[in-house]
Amino acid sequence: MADDQVLTDMLTMVDRSPGVVALRVCVIELLIERGRYADALAHCGTALGQEPGNVQVLGLMMRCTTALSGGSVATSVPDTAVPTPVSTVDPVAVRSGVDPAAPPSAVGPGAVPSEVGPAASPSDFDWAAAENEVGDIIEPAFVHGVPSEFVTDDDAATVERPTLRLADVGGMSEVKQQLDLTLLGPLRNPELAKAFGTSARGGLLLYGPPGCGKTFIASAVAGELGANFYPIEITDILDIYTGASERNVHSIFEMARRNAPCVLFLDEVDALGHKRSQMQASSTMRTVVNQLLTEMDSATHSNEGVFVLGATNHPWDVDVALRRPGRFDRMIFVGLPDLAARTSILHYHLRDRPVAGIDLNALATHTDGLSGADLAHLCTSATQLAMADSMRSGEVRPIGMADIRAALSQIRPSTGAWFESARNVVEFANGDGSYDDLAMYLKRRR
Ligand SMILES: Nc1ncnc2c1ncn2[C@@H]1O[C@H](COP(=O)(O)OP(=O)(O)O)[C@@H](O)[C@H]1O
Ligand SMILES: [Mg+2]
Repeated sequence: MADDQVLTDMLTMVDRSPGVVALRVCVIELLIERGRYADALAHCGTALGQEPGNVQVLGLMMRCTTALSGGSVATSVPDTAVPTPVSTVDPVAVRSGVDPAAPPSAVGPGAVPSEVGPAASPSDFDWAAAENEVGDIIEPAFVHGVPSEFVTDDDAATVERPTLRLADVGGMSEVKQQLDLTLLGPLRNPELAKAFGTSARGGLLLYGPPGCGKTFIASAVAGELGANFYPIEITDILDIYTGASERNVHSIFEMARRNAPCVLFLDEVDALGHKRSQMQASSTMRTVVNQLLTEMDSATHSNEGVFVLGATNHPWDVDVALRRPGRFDRMIFVGLPDLAARTSILHYHLRDRPVAGIDLNALATHTDGLSGADLAHLCTSATQLAMADSMRSGEVRPIGMADIRAALSQIRPSTGAWFESARNVVEFANGDGSYDDLAMYLKRRR
């Protein structure tokens, strides 16, 4: 879409003076006028990063999230800009000179439905959708999508080149050390590895409670190796009706080989487990496992720069054949985020939100036992509390420690059930010592 001259000029000015929030506010208003809410939101995110709590930007942001979640947006009278009864901070329509008589469609393509419905009450507001949108304006922790020159157009859609490095993973020094020892070290020093009779061949299985960074770490490993990252959910390749799974597995490995060096990340490896296979079409499962074994073995033997990383919350359900030498023969336990990891996760989730007076250290100290996903949830809930309060009082205010404390009082660690299973496994099914790491960890946490 060709931008009109005013917008183009303003964008140039913002590029030249990215730190001047007032300029960016003008751009946001122009974008809203043109119905480009997602672009406007991105600028809101940047502006709030520079001036957390900027009331005008918050108002604009709410308009965007409302529009994107399918709500109606006022193009004329500020009061109808529901569900933002904060009319004092919603001067867009007035300031941006939108013609009040213009029909809603005048806001441009991608705009909201033309019928402007009655004002939704705050209780009708779709928090989840709005949060989703707010989530979108937060800069991603790592930027994918810079396809390497070796990647074909087709592949570029699925294969990423992560810029994330292990240094971006907060804390978790034991995990990093193990990764260095079993994978990164041997790959960097192949001669040394040979001398010591070790190698980076075969697959490495990350395991641990859900939401604690397995996927995140796998991506960082790819970044560390300067390799492509190709994430696959095992459940996606289980196609029980057509028998296509077998071919799927093969084409996945072919794709990985084509894009070598490549970290092929197989998530939810336990979905191929023999316990589950009893319930589902076990012969299909068997075929997929066999195909996977064939491919893994050949990836290992030809050693063409395909590194298979797996992840599972339930390693005890993983098919035993997949755990044999040359396959997923090494496991690394990824536990709950430690203090440094929690600090980094909390910082990440709050850094682009309007916050004031947040004591990150105190917060990280008091959230032992929460997973990365729990911490993300905590930040979201605190944001909602502050937003709800702003709507109630008609005065926009940033997220403070009080919101965090209130949100925290409602959150229970989501990993309770996982730890129960883990305790049983360690107690009754650790005959071969596979779970010694886990056993030690559980002992320490007790
Ligand atoms: N050590 C860490 N440092 C920074 N962020 C982390 C860390 N561990 C987890 N996270 C964050 O927690 C979230 C959940 O992690 P994820 O990798 O999806 O968990 P899993 O794959 O184990 O279920 C991710 O969004 C990630 O950003
Ligand atoms: Mg994951």
